[in-house]
Amino acid sequence: MLVDRFGRRARKLRISVTDRCNFRCVYCMPEDVAFMDREELLTFEEIERVTRVAVRLGIEKVRLTGGEPLARRDVERLVERLAAIPGLRSVSMTTNGYFLPAKAAALKRAGLNGLNISLDTLDPDRFLLLTRRDYLREVLAGLDAALAAGFAPIKVNMVVMRGYNDDEVETFALLARTRPLVVRFIEFMPLDNGNVWNERLVVPAREIIERIASVAPLEPLEHDPSEPARRWRFRDGQGEIGVIASVTEPFCAHCDRLRLTADGKIRNCLFGLDEYDVRAVLRGGGSDEDIAAVFQEAVANKWAGHLINRAGFVKPERTMHAIGG
Ligand code: 5AD
Ligand code: SF4
Repeated sequence: MLVDRFGRRARKLRISVTDRCNFRCVYCMPEDVAFMDREELLTFEEIERVTRVAVRLGIEKVRLTGGEPLARRDVERLVERLAAIPGLRSVSMTTNGYFLPAKAAALKRAGLNGLNISLDTLDPDRFLLLTRRDYLREVLAGLDAALAAGFAPIKVNMVVMRGYNDDEVETFALLARTRPLVVRFIEFMPLDNGNVWNERLVVPAREIIERIASVAPLEPLEHDPSEPARRWRFRDGQGEIGVIASVTEPFCAHCDRLRLTADGKIRNCLFGLDEYDVRAVLRGGGSDEDIAAVFQEAVANKWAGHLINRAGFVKPERTMHAIGG
């Protein structure tokens, strides 16, 4: 089992399948980013092998991320392979939604269990400003396609940034009341390599909840401490929201996650500065035990938590798109 020095057991693995993306969200990557060479990416066979070992070590759920996971060709084939691994309870995906009109049904057939769609604004001009692409219509069509394919409930992730989109918090909360969506409000984290982030842009979860409650009363739902989102539902029973207070109320003490980057490095924290190279083992003829040893090493070195709010905080060198949300 993968238990760290602080007694936390890893149960979830986030797998980045590509660092590429057809969007350029300002909080995630620069416009002129250099992507990895294709040979650097783990193949589906390699990802499946690593996942099988991870499941033997106690991983129960995986989430596919990017970059944009649907920008990787035939990713539904990977979903199918992973969904067939005995002992793996769930395979889900976080996507920008753009390719869902073409892919939602295939993903459902392949056995994908859950879908999170990133959407930060409903205003086309702002969408262009935030993602540097004029694709709001496509994303909304993707959301509809995912609902039509039978994904439910779908989670919508909104990164809240003061002065950019925080005046839409109430509108997004209403979405959770009128459509089968759970809307999750995420505090803006310093994962953009210093391009945009500063403390003043963070809207604290507390404030988000107060604003929403002033539109319609909320009550807290039971909280699974390993889940980053604090869940709330509207008191009239219509709709659920979540807030992810990564900055103002870090949940590191209950973290049960590990990450696998698209180029085959294990990371024990979004903000970690070290990586553990599983690709070298895969391509150097290593055994499953050797792969397991890389996981063990990553977990043994996991630290207590990030220090965003303290002096001495060092931003990770990779930006979000290369780590995998
Ligand atoms: N802060 C908070 N959330 C972020 N995401 C990407 N970059 C950041 C950031 N700097 C979100 C995306 C996506 C999820 C994978 O992470 O919007 O929903
Ligand atoms: Fe692409 Fe997601 Fe990063 Fe936006 S946040 S640029 S959609 S990977």
